Amino acid sequence: MDIEEEIRALQLDSAEDSNGTISTEDGLHQQVEVADKMEEDLKCGIGESSQQVHIEDKGKDKEVSAPEVEEPEGMELDKKRHLNVVFIGHVDSGKSTIGGQILFLSGQVDDRTIQKYEKEAKDKSRESWYMAYIMDTNEEERVKGITVEVGRAHFETETTRFTILDAPGHKSYVPNMISGASQADIGVLVISARKGEFETGYEKGGQTREHVQLAKTLGVSKLLVVVNKMDEPTVNWSKERYDEIESKMVPFLRSSGYNVKKDVQFLPISGLIGSNMKTVVEKSVCPWWNGPCLLEALDAIEGPLRDPNGPFRMPIIDRFKDMGTVVMGKVESGSVSEGDSLVVMPNKVQVKVVAVYCDKDKVRHAGPGENLRVRLAGIEEEDIISGFVLSSIAKSVPAVTEFFAQLQILELLENAIFTAGYKAILHIHSVVEECEIVELLQEIDPKTKKPKKKKVLFVKTNAVVVCRIQVNNMICVEKFANFPQLGRFTLRTEGKTVAVGKVTDIPSTTRS
Ligand code: GTP
Ligand code: MG
Repeated sequence: MDIEEEIRALQLDSAEDSNGTISTEDGLHQQVEVADKMEEDLKCGIGESSQQVHIEDKGKDKEVSAPEVEEPEGMELDKKRHLNVVFIGHVDSGKSTIGGQILFLSGQVDDRTIQKYEKEAKDKSRESWYMAYIMDTNEEERVKGITVEVGRAHFETETTRFTILDAPGHKSYVPNMISGASQADIGVLVISARKGEFETGYEKGGQTREHVQLAKTLGVSKLLVVVNKMDEPTVNWSKERYDEIESKMVPFLRSSGYNVKKDVQFLPISGLIGSNMKTVVEKSVCPWWNGPCLLEALDAIEGPLRDPNGPFRMPIIDRFKDMGTVVMGKVESGSVSEGDSLVVMPNKVQVKVVAVYCDKDKVRHAGPGENLRVRLAGIEEEDIISGFVLSSIAKSVPAVTEFFAQLQILELLENAIFTAGYKAILHIHSVVEECEIVELLQEIDPKTKKPKKKKVLFVKTNAVVVCRIQVNNMICVEKFANFPQLGRFTLRTEGKTVAVGKVTDIPSTTRS
């Protein structure tokens, strides 16, 4: 199916025939208008039409957008804070179902659409997947019942505008999950309580562990751990099962670097039925639960502190042409306004900000944490690749081909030793680049956290080592201590995460 067909198929509340024409009284007029709008949306990726599920044809993410009242051009962002939440966890734990249920509970998806999805899911012999279909909008995802691309949707609570990033759980799509997690402020780790499913996800090689370790490295500092499928007959809201999962997860989360008391909160839910999501689960269903429901917990969670007055940094995740060059990304530091002069790094091209879009709205000014599309003058689309950084001119982001890092080796492939000459794929903010470990400098004793005296030639799984890393092309990185979001990374080989690390130093010649 091509993208236009998919959009037509997903039109939430229209009565279209198979040619995509709308059969309402004033059909002709609407037909032209909608077609124009779709073409416009497809070109610029900034959907403004109401009542439609919006898929971007560019980039790794797909957008699921809600009915929206059009805002006047150049509005100021409201005072509500904005948080990006990534849903992570083992395949089939229920991430997309929960994302879909949130959109349903917040009134963004109507009963008719649900009925349509129920029928489509049934036709594909995937009856129980209808809620997940709200987030899983691609044909491949619907047929297989797994998420491939990160789904993106928006909803609001009293205090917060949330962007949901629905990551894939399948191990083949970990790079997409990394891209989703690298845009997130907080994470919802979804665990299936169903008999056998928690166990498979938690086992070595299961994605529960890998996702937690990746999320921590990628800067997801707070986690809500939702124990899902509590309604399932093998669970039936059992307190024993919930406690068992919590007691096994706590030591693991601690060993992955989370302060469990401060940064982690557990809660039971049923994503499919929608229990303990918008309102607290009834006592008749779950007498032992005295905590909050999911949306209350999300509302209360503290996001990371970002400096609105710091030097501007926005790693670019994608770019396209639309009346100039438009770049997409999340602001990690500083603020941006229409008319600003900035520089695209590492190629050092000075640009002017023509327009700033936040979600679907054109805004005059945007601060840290926002997901933006920024229209630039002074640069061609072909001169930008994802991984470049839109940066302040006065304090530009360092561009390097080499840096020093402290690595934690997670799991080496069988028989592999980690030594100088080791090659891997480096994932740092939105950069994906082949790298080589050119020198091992020190091994750190995990107990004392001090460097070992002995010269280090190679290390094995679980070692902590300081090393020098090289890449062929210039990339933008920051020292972890200054900008954690641009200073932490993962190394992957043959589809597996072998190490997580942080940038400890960059050669002085490249420092700004
Ligand atoms: P990936 O995207 O492939 O990683 O999977 P996912 O985590 O998004 O899971 P998805 O939402 O696609 O759901 C997988 C299956 O679990 C579907 O059959 C859902 O109906 C089922 N499921 C999800 N949540 C619940 C729940 O709360 N209760 C029950 N009984 N089933 C659920
Ligand atoms: Mg999914």
